[in-house]
Amino acid sequence: MSDPVSTGALRRMLVTSALPYANGPIHIGHLVEYIQADIWVRAMRMHGHEAYYVGADDTHGTAIMLRAQSEGITPLQLIERVWREHKRDFDHFLISFDNYCSTDSDENRILSERIFTALHEAGLIAERDIEQAYDPAKEMFLPDRFIKGECPKCGEKDQYGDSCEVCGSTYRPTELGKPYSVLSGATPVKKTSTHYFFRLSDPRCETFLRDWVGQLAQEEATKKMREWIGEDGNTKLTDWDISRDAPYFGFEIPGVPGKYFYVWLDAPIGYYASFKKLCDRLSLDFEEWVRPGTTTEQYHFIGKDILYFHTLFWPATLQFSGYRAPTNVFAHGFLTVDGTKMSKSRGTFINANSYITSGLDPQWLRYYIAAKLNSTMEDIDLNLEDFRARVNSDLVGKYVNIASRTAGFLIKWFDARVHDSAMNHRLLVQLRAAIPMIPTYYESREYSRALRQIMELADAVNVYVDAAKPWEKAKNPANAVALHETCSVSLEAFRLLTLALKPVLPKLAKSVETFLSIDPLKWADVTTPLSSARSIKPYQHLIQRVDQKQIDALLAVNR
Ligand code: 2FM
Ligand code: ZN
Repeated sequence: MSDPVSTGALRRMLVTSALPYANGPIHIGHLVEYIQADIWVRAMRMHGHEAYYVGADDTHGTAIMLRAQSEGITPLQLIERVWREHKRDFDHFLISFDNYCSTDSDENRILSERIFTALHEAGLIAERDIEQAYDPAKEMFLPDRFIKGECPKCGEKDQYGDSCEVCGSTYRPTELGKPYSVLSGATPVKKTSTHYFFRLSDPRCETFLRDWVGQLAQEEATKKMREWIGEDGNTKLTDWDISRDAPYFGFEIPGVPGKYFYVWLDAPIGYYASFKKLCDRLSLDFEEWVRPGTTTEQYHFIGKDILYFHTLFWPATLQFSGYRAPTNVFAHGFLTVDGTKMSKSRGTFINANSYITSGLDPQWLRYYIAAKLNSTMEDIDLNLEDFRARVNSDLVGKYVNIASRTAGFLIKWFDARVHDSAMNHRLLVQLRAAIPMIPTYYESREYSRALRQIMELADAVNVYVDAAKPWEKAKNPANAVALHETCSVSLEAFRLLTLALKPVLPKLAKSVETFLSIDPLKWADVTTPLSSARSIKPYQHLIQRVDQKQIDALLAVNR
């Protein structure tokens, strides 16, 4: 199934983006995903679709437990503080979550237990003894990344348990020479314990996933998933260890003291737990939304690094525990800054909050990221020089300028009202014919195409304003009729461009709605022109130019 296209019928959809770990700040790399999903949801809501966007902090696991220990606080204190920081950042960047909570919630515990029990009853949970590295000093099992030692290939010291940073070889932690625990320095010992596995190797999972993969929108993701599943009848799918031993911060498995659900089991269930909370608040029927065969749609925006979890484990988990499977999973690429990986020393590991405190406008970043995004998993680059030039030229030079050059005349000479007969001008007919394509580009996640097209339309409007020269016409009262037409056409064109940009620039669009005295814009309003029945408000500055000094300040704080 390819991306669904709007048919005119109203749809019901649940949308998520990956849940950020509760042990660090939101950075600009995370923001790509939240901005991408937020634009999509806003575009859907503008059709009138019932689109809910939920999120939560991903709060469980060894890393969070250890982080709290190192700060001398409890995991609960840590996740509460980080939740507030994350929420603040999402609000600043206008990420319109309908609910944002935490995976450490009662709803999530109940759903995780219910899902585990259902998988168990379906015969898809296996118990098996496994041997793992154990830190005898810390008295805990060690995840691979907490073991270091000598590379088995080149002998380099202090290499992680999975791969060597010097020679690039990959291996198992047991192959390391002179292994030691990163936590205590002690030599890990082998220890056996019983673990619970989700039996992904069961033929039912293979059959289901082989069919479900046909639904994926992205070619690259489909290819990857087919590789993971393997040859027909000769599956490569292996069972998934979904338990961890104490000490662990998470949900204890009912009836099995000292065993916890692995964070990656309860994290995606957190999507449902967050949605359940929203359903309770809005009196929506959660069970109806998530039952097999429901007419609702379910979309997950993620980074390409967690495709495996979202295209194998998560759909299979849902399918075999009595829920509907996702409609689609949309993966994006990574963000580079000025062509390279984000780096602390270059100041390009940019925290969301530092962007705000350096005085930059979140809508600039939303615009720039959107201008770079398409529907593939390709990496995107934030080039700071290009960022400044692009925002200034497109948003200020091409778009906002249309209103700033014409609104004053309308207010001064024409009682702040448009001339209704100007609403059928050929330029406006051209814009109204082009704009209905824009929501289809948003829906297929071709944002860069949408914005290119919008800026081409803005160029056409500017050609019109430049030729009509309202500032010249205003000098001679004999030109009043023509001036009134120019200003009316320009402001209606500005309204149409605002409509097209609204999912990307929601705050700006709101200011424009106030300025033009119009109701909140939705896609159907392409054919609802400005009217002389309402007068526009005095023009207020709508968006600032990006100043190089702000970018310099941003790089300096992140260094
Ligand atoms: O990779 C990550 O950052 C995870 N915290 C994403 C979890 S997404 C979902 F499964 F909850
Ligand atoms: Zn090596």
